Amino acid sequence: MSKDMFPQVPERPILYDWLYHKTTKDIEMYCQLTEGHSEILECAVGTGRLAIPLAEKGRVVHGIDYSTAMLQKFEEKLPGLPQEVRDCIHLYQADMRDFDLNKKFTFVFVPFGSFVYLLSIEDQKSCLNSLRRHLADGGTLVIDLPTWEEARDEKWLDNDVSVMKVKQTINPTTGNTTEMWSTFRFDSSTQIMEQDRHYKIYDHEGILEKEQVVLWKSRFFLLGEFQLLLETCGLKIAEIYGDFNFGPYHHKSEVAVVVIKAI
Ligand SMILES: C[S@@+](CC[C@H](N)C(=O)[O-])C[C@H]1O[C@@H](n2cnc3c(N)ncnc32)[C@H](O)[C@@H]1O
Repeated sequence: MSKDMFPQVPERPILYDWLYHKTTKDIEMYCQLTEGHSEILECAVGTGRLAIPLAEKGRVVHGIDYSTAMLQKFEEKLPGLPQEVRDCIHLYQADMRDFDLNKKFTFVFVPFGSFVYLLSIEDQKSCLNSLRRHLADGGTLVIDLPTWEEARDEKWLDNDVSVMKVKQTINPTTGNTTEMWSTFRFDSSTQIMEQDRHYKIYDHEGILEKEQVVLWKSRFFLLGEFQLLLETCGLKIAEIYGDFNFGPYHHKSEVAVVVIKAI
């Protein structure tokens, strides 16, 4: 397993929440996919964007993440939730590349493209082997991945040096605006995209208050490579959807929702 760790999230995960609090497109699909599964395992659970609505539906969510800051942000939300929802959430600090909860699940998932943060084939295999060890007999693993089409659309692969404004959001409490500007570098020899994420926070008068730059890395691959990778870990693709509405996967799909079973 590679020891190469680097900042994956802003020092202040509140920025993550501000930027993604409106991202809800995948929630309904994961609610449907987890129907009938009482206990589920979410890898790279973050601040609970998905885990909380799933717990609200009565799923018992076990969530792992290696970031102390992200988990702390998640834990801060727990007192604001009804007791029966809180009772459904179990958090663990663990690296998805190698972990052991000593428990098996009928449903395991790595949502929101988080598998691309694994930067080498060695790390990807190590993660898949860990996920497989946590799958109960007949259990389902779901991993959603960005596609090359999305990478092209988002201009991640163009090596355009100009700074691009990719996201803007307003803090509902203070009215302050947060912007995330990014530059991308893609190295086709490693399939790794590096992104400098510049977070800029403005006060309510529009004056720049804080700025933070975070290096973000992701490794992109085509589905054929992913299929072979799964097979080397005793896993196989059972189904692929091309959107979060169970639509077909095709050359224009921006996401691949891959439903996986043990061989
Ligand atoms: C894009 S966020 C996704 C959070 C959440 N699943 C969601 O859908 O909002 C990615 C998360 O992956 C976590 N992460 C990245 N690499 C990881 C690893 N090797 N092991 C565990 N968590 C990891 C980060 O700390 C971050 O919380």
